[in-house]
Amino acid sequence: MTASRERPRIVCLPGDCIGPEVMAVAERVLRELAPDLDLEEHLFGAAAIRATGTSLPDETLAACRTADAVLKAPIGDPEFDAADVRPEQGMLQLRAELDVYANLRPASQGEVDLLIVRELVGGLYFGARGVRDDGTVFDTCEYHPAQVERIARRAFELARARNRRLTSVDKANVLETSRLWRRVVHEVAADYPDVEVADLLVDNAAMQLASAPEQFDVIVTENMFGDILSDLAAAMTGGLGLAPSASLGDAGPGIFEPVHGSAPDIAGRGIANPTGMLLSTALMLEHGLGREAEAGILRGAVDVGRRTSPTPDVGGQATTSEFSDAVVAALA
Ligand code: NAD
Ligand code: IPM
Ligand code: MN
Repeated sequence: MTASRERPRIVCLPGDCIGPEVMAVAERVLRELAPDLDLEEHLFGAAAIRATGTSLPDETLAACRTADAVLKAPIGDPEFDAADVRPEQGMLQLRAELDVYANLRPASQGEVDLLIVRELVGGLYFGARGVRDDGTVFDTCEYHPAQVERIARRAFELARARNRRLTSVDKANVLETSRLWRRVVHEVAADYPDVEVADLLVDNAAMQLASAPEQFDVIVTENMFGDILSDLAAAMTGGLGLAPSASLGDAGPGIFEPVHGSAPDIAGRGIANPTGMLLSTALMLEHGLGREAEAGILRGAVDVGRRTSPTPDVGGQATTSEFSDAVVAALA
């Protein structure tokens, strides 16, 4: 995933509600830090539904496919919560189209330093769903062994590059897909004798994350469990506004986006915390473009912003633009 063009192309998807507010900060920072990147904005989410009737227009998908990386702000708007066409559908479609099956969600603060590796293109999110004649509504959770194998392998590789401890989270006491998950994880484990692997049921995992998060190194889990546990891990390490993510496949561009949503409750007030967006931008520089030095500089500047200009969600009083000024000043 090294950038082959002279000017790497970054597709920016500003998204909805606070999305454009935090994306503006990321673009400002990138223009300062990496002026050789070509940043291009495309329609996505609620904004795209309003303009074109669909959340992921063909033109946006085509731009993403040929990009070096996709930098994405949150989508989602209460206006479409009950609609047939919703912003979230385009997001799932984009993840599937780019086959970014490995969603890396790091969380650290003090003693806690963990990485959730969430399977992103399978499970309940992508199984058959519908309505039966009697009115029953259903969603189904499905996994093929190959889907489990590739995410398990990715998680073992990541654990090997960290503290060599992997916790696989499932619900194998109830679910058939979890029993498959557990079996495949242990088959893959044979190739990684240097990594210590343990199984944990998801309800216990939530309790352990809330009470003793410092015990974890890498956690690997299926799509839905990973969604829920990553918000919890974010809350345990300073708040949802801080958490970044990288969604990677085996080839092609990754998607880099904060863990948090579009926060309609604070949209338009200029107080969104851009930390999750900026740390996702750092993950893009590092994993998407192989530019570790710039990623390090950006993380350092974000630390300065967090110390000197905290936003209200983390107990401060700074606005998004004051935070952004502090980060840009610290880059210099
Ligand atoms: P949310 O993450 O948007 O907000 C939860 C709470 O955290 C809110 O009180 C919000 O104000 C706060 N918060 C989140 N990010 C913040 C930030 N950067 N700075 C300060 N405060 C922040 O979750 P929700 O309210 O359940 O979802 C709102 C919408 O976002 C829904 O439409 C949902 O589908 C969508 N969503 C999108 C993504 C994404 O695009 N990746 C992720 C999660 C949710
Ligand atoms: C996330 C979000 C999405 C998910 C929604 C918006 C579809 O919550 O990226 O964590 O559940 O994957
Ligand atoms: Mn989520």
